[in-house]
Amino acid sequence: MSLEGRRIVLGVSGGIAAYKAPDLVRRLRDAGASVRVVMTRGAESFVSPMTFQAVSGHPVHDTLWSAEAEAAMGHIDLARWADLVLVAPATANVMARLAHGLADDLLTTLILATESPVCIAPAMNHQMWLHPATQGNLTVLEDRGVAIMGPGAGDQACGETGPGRMLEPQDLADRVQLLLGRAGTLAGVKVLVTAGPTLEDLDPVRFLGNRSSGKMGFAVAEAARRLGAEVTLVAGPVSLDTPAGVERVNVRSAQEMYAAVMQRAADSDIYVGAAAVADFRPKLASEEKIKKGTEDFQTIELVRNPDILAAVAGSENAPFTVGFAAETSDVEQYARGKLDKKKIDMIAANRVGVDHQGFDCGDNALTVLWNEGRQDLALQPKSSLAGALMQLVEERFRTARDE
Ligand code: CTP
Repeated sequence: MSLEGRRIVLGVSGGIAAYKAPDLVRRLRDAGASVRVVMTRGAESFVSPMTFQAVSGHPVHDTLWSAEAEAAMGHIDLARWADLVLVAPATANVMARLAHGLADDLLTTLILATESPVCIAPAMNHQMWLHPATQGNLTVLEDRGVAIMGPGAGDQACGETGPGRMLEPQDLADRVQLLLGRAGTLAGVKVLVTAGPTLEDLDPVRFLGNRSSGKMGFAVAEAARRLGAEVTLVAGPVSLDTPAGVERVNVRSAQEMYAAVMQRAADSDIYVGAAAVADFRPKLASEEKIKKGTEDFQTIELVRNPDILAAVAGSENAPFTVGFAAETSDVEQYARGKLDKKKIDMIAANRVGVDHQGFDCGDNALTVLWNEGRQDLALQPKSSLAGALMQLVEERFRTARDE
C-alpha cells in the first residue's frame, strides 16, 4: 500500500460531485492513507457530515469558530498534520477564494496555513469552467504550485456536455499515489531525465530545432515516478503536461539544458538522456532580426554544443547513465558505438524514419543495449514502453551498484 502512513486532508466543497467524495475517501484509505475531511458549508447541502465521519473514521471538520473543534484539531493543527491537502470537488467559488488568498472558512484558512502540497480536482458546469475568471484563477493557482487534477469532459449533471466533470475517485486516488507514494522498486532513488528538443536561436524570431515531441522523455519521467523515484525532468520547449509528482525545469537551448543537468547530475542516482539535443548552434545569435538583404543565399556558421550525456557519464560521482540513439539504419551497430564512445551504462536505440514509430508518434519500439547484454522492447505505446524501459534500467542500476 503506497500511501501507508500518509496523511491527507480532503476538502469537500459544494458541488454535485461531492457525492463521489465518500468513495474517494474509501479509495485513499484502501491505499493506506489516513484521511481527515473538511467540508465547506455548501458541501453539507449535498452530503451529510455523518457520511464522511463513517467512511473516514473521524469526525468531520467544518468550522473555524468552534472552541470544541479547536481544542481537538484546529486549522493550524490540521495544516501541520497534512502531508497533502486535496480539494475534491473544487468548485469555481472555492478556486476563486483560493486564488485570492481568502481565509473565510476552515478549508481556505488551513490551505493558507499549510506548507504541504495542495491539489484540487475542479468540478463545475463547463461554462463556469471556461469563464475567463475561472481560467484566470486556474493560472494563478498553477503558478503558485497547486497541482490541478482534471477536470474531465463529458456529460454533466446540468444536462450539458463539456469540460468540468470531476475525475473519478480511483483516478484521483492514483494521482495522489503518484504525488505522495513512496513504495516501488525505485523508492528513495533520484532520477534525472531530459526530454524534448532544444531550440538554438538564430535571431529573436528564428531558431534551429528538431521534431522531438518530448513524449518519450515525459513517459520515462512518469514511469520512474510510478516506480517510486524522486524525479526531476529537464524539458526543452514542448507543450506537454508535467507528470504528477515530477519536478520540472524548463530550458530552451542545449547550453541551458547542459547547465541545468550538470547542476543536478552529481546528486542523482540515475540519468536518462531522452532529449534530442541539437549537436550544433549558430555561432552568433543576432540580437536583431536578420534581414534577407539582396544575396541569393546566406551561410549560417555553426559551432558544436556540449555533449550532455558524455559529460554526465564522465563527471565525478556520475549517476547510472542511460542514453537514447535515434538511427535511420544499422541501429544496433551505431548504438553500440555510442555506448562505448560516450562511456555510458545503457543505451535505448530506436529506428526513426519508419511509419508509426519514433518521432512525433504515440508508439515506439526500442533495442536496449548494455555492456554484457541486450533486450528488445516491442512496438507499443510510449507510456508502457517507458515502464518496461525503467524496469530494465532499475535492474541494471541495482546490478551495477552491487558490483
Ligand atoms: N546527447 C546529449 N548532448 C548532445 C547530443 C546528444 O546529451 N549534445 C544525447 C541525447 O540526449 C541522446 C544521445 O546523446 O541520449 C544521442 O546520441 P548522439 O550521438 O548525439 O545522437 P545523434 O546526434 O543522433 O548522433 P549522430 O549524429 O552521431 O548519429
